[in-house]
Amino acid sequence: MTDDILTRARTLSGYDDVSRIRQSQDHDWVLDLVPEPPSTVADLGCGTGALLDAALARWPGVVRAVGIDGNERRVREAGVRLAGRAELLTGDLLRLPPLDDRFDVAFMTSVLHWLHPDEDRAFAWTAAHLAPGGTFVLTTHHPLTDARGFGGEDVVARDALAALGYDDSLAGIVPMGVRARPAQPVRALLARHFTVTAVEERQVPVRAESAERYRDFHASTFGTYFSRLVPPDRQEDFFEAVGRAAARRGAEHGEVYGITVRAWRATPLT
Ligand SMILES: C[S@@+](CC[C@H](N)C(=O)[O-])C[C@H]1O[C@@H](n2cnc3c(N)ncnc32)[C@H](O)[C@@H]1O
Repeated sequence: MTDDILTRARTLSGYDDVSRIRQSQDHDWVLDLVPEPPSTVADLGCGTGALLDAALARWPGVVRAVGIDGNERRVREAGVRLAGRAELLTGDLLRLPPLDDRFDVAFMTSVLHWLHPDEDRAFAWTAAHLAPGGTFVLTTHHPLTDARGFGGEDVVARDALAALGYDDSLAGIVPMGVRARPAQPVRALLARHFTVTAVEERQVPVRAESAERYRDFHASTFGTYFSRLVPPDRQEDFFEAVGRAAARRGAEHGEVYGITVRAWRATPLT
């Protein structure tokens, strides 16, 4: 049974139904950047385990796969999907304890903006848990931003807030356009722990076939991050307004918004 919209937002459930709109499009791209078949892999912010699943299918020689995510429900879903083929841990990427493992490959896809402004902590942990010469592949999102730093999902949330008659300044939260750092600052953060060996970029239109589908995507991906800006009794209205705002943007521009996605390959400093 599908969760109602408020449960979806509270627990980030339903991700597999909607992640094709953005995140899961990157998985093959990310695997293609790994130079040779690894024996051990870690996926940091593994979500529901789809990338690890694809990695295990591609590389039958993987003997150890570890997925870590901060959301318990997603970790449970990943456990069902990967059934004994991977070790799944619930943990905050900004406060991970040291592990004994040194991985050949670590992934972090569509996660970095959630770690702002403490990305360095996660990068330090990752570099320390890669084997010498190991590979880190991550994706980063780079929405076009306006002069006030709003971009990507911010614009949809702001439309929804305005439509409901609320302040649309996003005061009280860090806009996605700020969380998602431009390429140069990401490179500088990586350079503290890694040598970057490849960067690729794609222009990606974010679009959904209906207002309902975009509403669900927003709730499963952004949870209550934006909806907290409206009172508890207007939560449902907010998600409906997000769907309508996205549909209107889609009809006007052919996409809800465009975003540059970068895939980075890096190896730890020696
Ligand atoms: C957009 S999803 C990406 C999931 C998956 N990597 C993918 O490509 O489909 C972002 C994931 O990062 C996780 N996440 C965000 N901040 C986190 C943190 N501080 N510690 C652990 N996981 C975190 C979320 O729970 C969520 O599953």
